[in-house]
Amino acid sequence: APSDPDLVERARAAKAELGDKVFVLGHHYQRDEVIEFADVTGDSFKLARDAAARPDAEYIVFCGVHFMAESADILTGDDQQVILPDLAAGCSMADMATAEQVAECWDVLTEAGVAEQVVPVSYMNSSADIKAFTGKHGGTICTSSNAKRALDWAFEQGEKVLFLPDQHLGRNTAVRDMGLSLDDCVVYNPHKPNGGLTAEELRAAKMILWRGHCSVHGRFSLDSVNDVRERIPGVNVLVHPECKHEVVAAADYVGSTEYIIKALEAAPRGSKWAIGTELNLVRRLANRFAAEDKEIVFLDKTVCFCSTMNRIDLPHLVWTLESLVAGKVVNRIQVDRETESFAKLALERMLALP
Ligand code: 13P
Ligand code: SF4
Repeated sequence: APSDPDLVERARAAKAELGDKVFVLGHHYQRDEVIEFADVTGDSFKLARDAAARPDAEYIVFCGVHFMAESADILTGDDQQVILPDLAAGCSMADMATAEQVAECWDVLTEAGVAEQVVPVSYMNSSADIKAFTGKHGGTICTSSNAKRALDWAFEQGEKVLFLPDQHLGRNTAVRDMGLSLDDCVVYNPHKPNGGLTAEELRAAKMILWRGHCSVHGRFSLDSVNDVRERIPGVNVLVHPECKHEVVAAADYVGSTEYIIKALEAAPRGSKWAIGTELNLVRRLANRFAAEDKEIVFLDKTVCFCSTMNRIDLPHLVWTLESLVAGKVVNRIQVDRETESFAKLALERMLALP
């Protein structure tokens, strides 16, 4: 539905009034009505890097989810305030690994005698606590656009990787990009004693995958791929690496949201594409590229928004900006200093990856 013109006008006026004091970042999964007001858009990696691009901006309004705003707070100056327009914009995947569970997992690895060989690699989609754990134990953060480089680095530091919290990104990167086999991977289930693994299994494994997943990308199946290939002959299937292994294995191309956009920009006229990622982005790309005669469809027949990304809407953005105009900071995201220092270590290792 078109945005409420009154709200659009209010957002414009508030942003103009704030001028250089405010810097608005928007993840690619945000609604069109929000993206319109973003100073920069990007995938998780680009936004982590860009967050620090405007050290003069007092307020950083992060249109994305909670872990992204936390990372922005960690990577920006102490005098800059990071704001998440709706505090309920979390990420169900990030919630699948708590600090207590991960500490318990480390005890299990220690008991099995393997902890010394293990380097943690945590997906950006994790809480600041998990990032701090990662930094403390010599590991790095990764995103979907640099997971291979992060794993290359980690396997130079140690023999095994504990990959948190997305089992699919971990498995897909290990098998597709690193030449490891499915048998090199085991899944640690935080809801079972000892993760549901024996000490022998932990000793034999190269990749210890945390049992987390994205419920949005989990909806795509091998059937979705087969159906679309039948419906649209010659279609290119392009999916996000948070999809299940069998979906990624059946796809033609795999990459982050930024990769998906670049691939479609470079695609020839008349080409056909089925995209396996969040629906706000796919719809925006379908509209944008229709003029260039590129046919872009959503990979599945059912709709598939990320409900928490969608919580950031124009009314929340207007409320945030108008509050700032009135001199009131709402929904500030602030990571405590101790957590921040270790989490920053892990994030900086990622930013320094070749
Ligand atoms: P990227 O934007 O890094 O591809 O990540 C997708 C995602 O799920 C963010 O939550
Ligand atoms: Fe989290 Fe999945 Fe939503 Fe990304 S798309 S924010 S991983 S729930």
